[in-house]
Amino acid sequence: MPHRKGKIEPLISSEQIQARILELGREIEKDLAGGELVAVGVLKGSFIFMADLVRSIKSPLRCDFLRVSSYENDRSTGVVRMEFDLTQSITDKNVLLIEDIVDSGRSLRYLLKHLQSKRPAKLRVASLLYKELNPEVRGMIDYCGFTIPNEFVIGYGLDSGGLYRSLPYVGRVTE
Ligand code: IMP
Ligand code: MG
Repeated sequence: MPHRKGKIEPLISSEQIQARILELGREIEKDLAGGELVAVGVLKGSFIFMADLVRSIKSPLRCDFLRVSSYENDRSTGVVRMEFDLTQSITDKNVLLIEDIVDSGRSLRYLLKHLQSKRPAKLRVASLLYKELNPEVRGMIDYCGFTIPNEFVIGYGLDSGGLYRSLPYVGRVTE
């Protein structure tokens, strides 16, 4: 996919993101203290959020990753595919699933079912962003960074055609 033309309009600044992550880290520490904690990042979009979030959690934890795909060329295909799975057992452990953004909730629903089948002690979800759609989807997120309007955003891990992930803030591309 070619680099989109147009300006980037910042929506959430790097400072806002960092401040919110410190709050989330404190909440997570309180809720998931005791028991072994595994932070599970959903690649690729969550890698920057995860890197900052795990550093804001003081309790010891392990990190693992998985990858699903449902988007092609900025559009959801509706079909969620597991591309690769965890490399360690999460049975009887506390799991924090880390997402960049929850849009339709299809990927998250699939992932929760998948992880639940491995019988973790607790399974919680952190998502940097939630696209205002319906309360049912919001209810699946335990630690939500920011609620944003229903539009396509990039930066801080989120891409468009593979680009923009390295921006330290979240914005939208104006055509
Ligand atoms: P869902 O299954 O519709 O909730 O989509 C979830 C996945 O699609 C996210 O984890 C992202 O990887 C991708 N996605 C959804 N909305 C956006 C967006 O606005 N920008 C970039 N990626 C997005
Ligand atoms: Mg994703």
